[in-house]
Amino acid sequence: MSKKSEIKKGDPETTGHSWDGIEEFNNPLPRWWLWTFYLTIIWGIGYTIAYPAWPLINSATAGVMGWSTRANVAAAIAEVEEANAPINARLEAAELSAISSDAELNSYAVSAGAAVFKTWCAQCHGSGAAGAKGYPNLLDDDWLWGGSMEEIHQTVTAGIRNTENDDARYSEMPAFGRDELLEAEQIDQVVNYVMSLSGEPRDASKVSEGAVVYADNCASCHAEDGTGDRTQGAPNLTDAIWLYGGDYADISETVTNSRFGVMPPWNTRLTEAEIRAVSAYVHQLGGGE
Ligand code: HEC
Ligand code: HEC
Repeated sequence: MSKKSEIKKGDPETTGHSWDGIEEFNNPLPRWWLWTFYLTIIWGIGYTIAYPAWPLINSATAGVMGWSTRANVAAAIAEVEEANAPINARLEAAELSAISSDAELNSYAVSAGAAVFKTWCAQCHGSGAAGAKGYPNLLDDDWLWGGSMEEIHQTVTAGIRNTENDDARYSEMPAFGRDELLEAEQIDQVVNYVMSLSGEPRDASKVSEGAVVYADNCASCHAEDGTGDRTQGAPNLTDAIWLYGGDYADISETVTNSRFGVMPPWNTRLTEAEIRAVSAYVHQLGGGE
């Protein structure tokens, strides 16, 4: 069926392929194209020799130029650290209570502290520091352990109820129900009494008996008037600000099983300047004393 070939004399050679009589010239690729192609191959090989490229099992070939994004970042960080070294040294040397009155030092500490807070503290205390159940709000002036620069600095440095730092703040509310220190009835009474300190009890008829249970079992830590004791981190029970919730079920749970809020120490993870910066940041959030 194929038609007669239309190849004329002087035409380039054909590849020998033929489709319904249509044949294919075997034209060479243009020189410029071919040379560009060879150059890209040479460039590619050169690149993988010069720069990190070929994957190995746990790393990659390093490249003879020693270029590394990681090293670049480290160098950039070192540069910033070097630039900040003098002011960090000033921050470490300053009297804690004097930081807020040194405008330049204070503004550096607060902005550096905000960055530390976002990285290390926000997971538990919230990015805006408003806290969550079991994690105190750091925006208000209701302090468990104290809100002066010295107190905050101490809390952050050593942490609370952790086993890593011997200076960690420590106290332990007894588990009155679980350890059978109080009868269920007494717990019911004292919970109603605690509720009456800041609002309405669930059952007003139990408040007066609850007051007796309170005086015998709770006042040593939470104070006779219920306003708490910062030397033991015992919360104020009269201000309607609750760490673990203030309804009947929450308070009942606290008294029955107790709580044991733990905060890690930061002196092993942060520099002294960072601890001071984040303390200054927390201090100026609104509740600093
Ligand atoms: C793993 C969770 C966790 C992280 C992370 C954490 N905290 Fe805490 N923090 C707590 C808990 C829990 C308490 C309350 C402990 C208690 O009941 O006394 C607390 C208490 C505090 C207090 C005492 C508040 C008061 O009322 O006296 C301060 C101040 C504080 N944290 C600051 C920080 C700072 C600053 C950071 C970051 C460097 C941080 N926390 C990171 C869990 C955490
Ligand atoms: C040894 C000291 C101690 C004694 C005694 C004690 N508490 Fe506490 N109480 C604490 C501490 C410390 C906390 C904070 C626990 C934490 O943060 O993990 C606390 C927390 C609480 C809370 C939670 C407050 C909140 O803001 O959520 C309530 C409610 C409470 N106690 C009630 C009582 C009652 C009622 C008694 C007596 C039956 C009592 N406590 C006895 C130390 C004590």
